Amino acid sequence: MTIAYREPCLSDGARIHQMVLRAGTLDVNSAYLYFLLADQFHATCALAESDTELVGFLTGYRLPDAPDTLFVWQIAVDPNMRGRGVASGLLHALETRPWFAEIKRIELTISPDNPASRALFARWADSLNKPIHQKPYLSTELLGDGHQPEDTYWIDLD
Ligand SMILES: CC(C)(COP(=O)(O)OP(=O)(O)OC[C@H]1O[C@@H](n2cnc3c(N)ncnc32)[C@H](O)[C@@H]1OP(=O)(O)O)[C@@H](O)C(=O)NCCC(=O)NCCS
Repeated sequence: MTIAYREPCLSDGARIHQMVLRAGTLDVNSAYLYFLLADQFHATCALAESDTELVGFLTGYRLPDAPDTLFVWQIAVDPNMRGRGVASGLLHALETRPWFAEIKRIELTISPDNPASRALFARWADSLNKPIHQKPYLSTELLGDGHQPEDTYWIDLD
């Protein structure tokens, strides 16, 4: 099966929102937020498609106060497409974008109950030949509603 990776555009917002709903473990934000990301942050987001069917996406942005840091936010692959390298393909797609040469640090957050996400980003750090670091970020108390805590992970590229 051939998977194509591309930047999203405004009209992809609804499909991304639908995939967040299907993914099961992600915080579901409003469709409006995914339209904004697909439109205004298209360069740092990516879609994976099989023919024209959406099978994965990732959202990210460069920190406004530190544009040489890429924050990778939500990433998901359709449940029946997992374990085939689609998420890794989305991350590698970012590496091919012209702006990636300016990135000195990659940041993300992961909750302790998400081993798949930890394995994915550890694998990405390995492929970049860099260590991955971790520290606490958002506690359950701060997040409220019984949300799992989120630790910050980062990969320094320098
Ligand atoms: C996390 C997620 C995106 C991974 O997608 P995927 O396409 O299955 O991942 P890949 O096939 O590219 O795997 C990448 C690496 O992670 C590992 N991995 C993936 N899922 C794993 C799991 N459930 N347990 C352990 N390792 C796992 C793979 O073995 C691979 O490492 P390898 O190359 O050394 O074998 C997917 O499980 C998902 O959509 N989960 C729900 C949404 C979510 O939790 N997103 C992360 C938080 S934003």
